[in-house]
Amino acid sequence: MKTVSLRDGESVPALGQGTWRMGENARAHKEEVAALRLGIELGMTVIDTAEMYGEGGAEKVVADAIEDQRDRVFVVSKVYPHNASPTELPKACERSLKRLRIDAIDLYLLHWRERNTQLAETVEAFEKLRTAGKITRWGVSNFDLEDMEELQSIENGMNCAANQVLYNLSNRQIEFDLLPLVRESSTLNYQPIVMAYSPVGHGRGLLENATLKKIAKRHGTTTSQIALAWVLREPRVIAIPKASKEKHVRDNARSIEIKLTKEDLTDLDQEFPPPTSKKPLPIL
Ligand SMILES: NC(=O)c1ccc[n+]([C@@H]2O[C@H](COP(=O)([O-])OP(=O)(O)OC[C@H]3O[C@@H](n4cnc5c(N)ncnc54)[C@H](OP(=O)(O)O)[C@@H]3O)[C@@H](O)[C@H]2O)c1
Repeated sequence: MKTVSLRDGESVPALGQGTWRMGENARAHKEEVAALRLGIELGMTVIDTAEMYGEGGAEKVVADAIEDQRDRVFVVSKVYPHNASPTELPKACERSLKRLRIDAIDLYLLHWRERNTQLAETVEAFEKLRTAGKITRWGVSNFDLEDMEELQSIENGMNCAANQVLYNLSNRQIEFDLLPLVRESSTLNYQPIVMAYSPVGHGRGLLENATLKKIAKRHGTTTSQIALAWVLREPRVIAIPKASKEKHVRDNARSIEIKLTKEDLTDLDQEFPPPTSKKPLPIL
């Protein structure tokens, strides 16, 4: 499995699993737990969740999936912006830990930024949780370049380990200014890794695209594997597709074996052109 290195030297697999829409329906619980467990078995050991997903339900699904294999899994969870204040953050973290039934979250993210978010206070609160051993590292989500610059100008803001953003073939906006910086990251000027959310475009529309189908045919594979292989071509990006069907989990896991050719990449650039101007970062 290809890996991506974090700021503190920890290496994590470049292909993980998402959990949005899990934990919302008790009847789906068994299938969702089984899907995550299969994904872990196939090497997709980064699991992304959030207190928002199923209002804690997804964290409980994750808990059941990892209970006998905590050490194999890199758990990512996210806090609501309205819980990111110095008083609320430790409480939200404690609730997530309880639902996840673990002692520490490997990576804890601010889910998105609200205009009244006092970034310096949130960073300080994250750092306190880290010192207390409740989280191992922290990061952000849905931050554009200006948000990242502001964050990095704050005391300890450079400790941010990851920025989770929308990135797939039909949503390439981060390539305009955010991703180029991430590509240039160095030990002296560390840039947080990118976690690409919705990498298969929610499993709809994108996967029916004719160009994607043509390339999939060339490789004798599926369109989702091509969509994922395209995200994974970036060295400092982790893709976190969500799949509750076993067939989809197996399909996604195989994307790691696909090597896109120059011809594939040219065809994809033609069909899904990279951004040419600054636009607001889309948020789901
Ligand atoms: N930070 C944020 O603001 C944010 C926003 C959105 C998402 N996320 C995270 O990113 C994760 C992934 O994003 P997402 O869930 O929005 O979208 P996604 O992973 O692009 O798509 C998930 C959908 O695609 C289907 N699917 C997965 N693999 C497939 C395959 N091989 N073939 C066909 N269909 C397939 C799934 O079906 P089944 O489930 O039926 O298998 C599901 O309906 C989320 O689960 C969440 O953890 C974060």
